Amino acid sequence: MVKLEVEVGGLRLRNPVMLASGIIGVTGRLMVRAAEAGAGAVVTKSVGPERRMGYGNPTIVEVSPGSYLNCMGLPNPGIDEFVEEIKIAKTGGVPVIVSVFGRSPEEFAMVAEKAENAGAEAVELNVSCPHTEVGILERSQRIVGQVVKAVKKKVGVPVFVKLSSNVTNIVEVGKVVEDAGADAVTAINTVRAMAIDVETCRPILSNKFGGLSGVAIKPIAVRCVYELYEALKIPVIGVGGIFSWEDAVEHILAGASAIQVATALTKGFNVFKELVDGIKSYLEKKGFKDVGEVVGAAHK
Ligand code: FUM
Repeated sequence: MVKLEVEVGGLRLRNPVMLASGIIGVTGRLMVRAAEAGAGAVVTKSVGPERRMGYGNPTIVEVSPGSYLNCMGLPNPGIDEFVEEIKIAKTGGVPVIVSVFGRSPEEFAMVAEKAENAGAEAVELNVSCPHTEVGILERSQRIVGQVVKAVKKKVGVPVFVKLSSNVTNIVEVGKVVEDAGADAVTAINTVRAMAIDVETCRPILSNKFGGLSGVAIKPIAVRCVYELYEALKIPVIGVGGIFSWEDAVEHILAGASAIQVATALTKGFNVFKELVDGIKSYLEKKGFKDVGEVVGAAHK
């Protein structure tokens, strides 16, 4: 029997395949479906201090097969309204991680505290949205450290921080959040990008710039996971371009203790089972007993 159970920054998961923040985690019921489909944990869509409409359409475009550019603009009902969805999501029986954003360390802390009170088993701080005015990381690494410290003061659940490759050196940012007390980092958020329509001669997205996800960003994500694993003591959660079990294993070999799936949900909910079964078969074939044995194996 191969052991797929993992522990990430103090959170135990039945398997390392998590639903990433973004597309499905907008309602409790959809997160329950992800859990029923085999996810080891679910991460909500990012939630802020108050209701936010997001950008007008177009907000998403497929730029090449399996690669999407999106700029939703962090639409969400606000944490007070979202509490009910967190409670429903928890009936799925797997850890619910609430993705949190704010305009200041105090707002992050306030939203995280409310998420914990609603039953969140961990929070993931979205300091890395590549195209909104609340993209904290674009302002300063110092503020990112302050955000982590403010949240750690207010909550007892594990605090994960979602990082971006849209910086000169992701390891520097990783060290800042580790020193500030983060329990794990998630790498990576979408990659800042743009597409222009040659007929209208205009940017396609209403916001002009968006975040690229899917197939195109996997090598960037794997590189970031590899660099972070080498430099940090806290665990790394890998996300970016994971469609197949081979993609998942590549992230794990680079150093991911768990992985997250987002764009691959375009294939349907069965992607969770496909990935979990694929990772298990790979470990069996290679003679491993525990998924932990291959975390970071590419470094040896
Ligand atoms: O547009 C969005 O809601 C995306 C947010 C993010 O990538 O962090």
